[in-house]
Amino acid sequence: MQETHVPPAGHVYVSRALTDAAMRRLAELDVPVVVHPDPDRPPTRAELLAGVPGAVAVVALLTERIDAELLDAAGDQLRVVANVAVGFDNVDVAEAARRGVVVTNTPGVLDEATADLAFGLVLAVARRIVEADRFLRTGAPWSWAPTMFTGLDVSAGATLGIVGLGRIGTAVARRARAFRMRVLATGRRAHGPEAAALGVRPSTMDELLERSDVVSLHCPLTPDTHHLIDGAALARMRRTAILVNTARGPVVDEAALVEALRDGVIAGAGLDVFEDEPEVHPGLLELDNVVLVPHIGSAGLATRDAMGVLAVDNVAAVLSGRAPLTPVTA
Ligand code: DGY
Repeated sequence: MQETHVPPAGHVYVSRALTDAAMRRLAELDVPVVVHPDPDRPPTRAELLAGVPGAVAVVALLTERIDAELLDAAGDQLRVVANVAVGFDNVDVAEAARRGVVVTNTPGVLDEATADLAFGLVLAVARRIVEADRFLRTGAPWSWAPTMFTGLDVSAGATLGIVGLGRIGTAVARRARAFRMRVLATGRRAHGPEAAALGVRPSTMDELLERSDVVSLHCPLTPDTHHLIDGAALARMRRTAILVNTARGPVVDEAALVEALRDGVIAGAGLDVFEDEPEVHPGLLELDNVVLVPHIGSAGLATRDAMGVLAVDNVAAVLSGRAPLTPVTA
């Protein structure tokens, strides 16, 4: 395996070192592999454009924009772009399709890990866990008190609204059921048998916003969902409600969210994703009623192995003339 910026012809370009399991699978491919040499940061645009010429496959992360410019730089021999994420809003899928380049993602393998993190954020915000931890570390004197760090009783019949009930949303609904929450959901699957079996009630967006104690976002980022949660949507939510976002940052108007959290329009938020990653709106950093984590929804060890291996298996399939395992379409 080469670690160089001078790409040999017919190589697989990998924009960041993957987990060991995925790297071993890459090494089994019968083609040269070029890995962006710095494991601690994504390639700059210039490095990316310099790494792909002559590539037959690009293994990309959500930090890389895969667009016409990159496809031009890669050249006509490029056959597959394997995104190591279920979301593929970083890839111009229509442009790739126009050029006959297959695009794949990693659905299915990260549902449980992402649902765990989403539910962790629900509990962390509802029960003010991070805020209480910060308090304790100040060394301030304290004694048990009836009103100390009180928060939302998730298990006392609270309502969870799942925006975009897909695989991950369904995994969140399973957790909510164990916590005896009522669950409302939007999305096609909300009308399906699995949702019904979990006691999920299909809902309109307005009803979900108005009735939920916790609103958890699980929709993909598309032109339709960009700023789906804006000032008006936040104003529809309960003043005691919590917003959790483990989907994509731009689904939420972050400036409007900061205002809503500051002004008590909603009670709190748990955010794994940000509008302008890796930037975090400075207003969020000042607020106590927000729990912030750096896009770690799928960061289970086995999950990250599975994502990387699936991406490489997609490359292997396309390069050997087989159908990709998990293609995405425009
Ligand atoms: C995805 O897969 O889309 C996540 O955001 C990263 O795991």
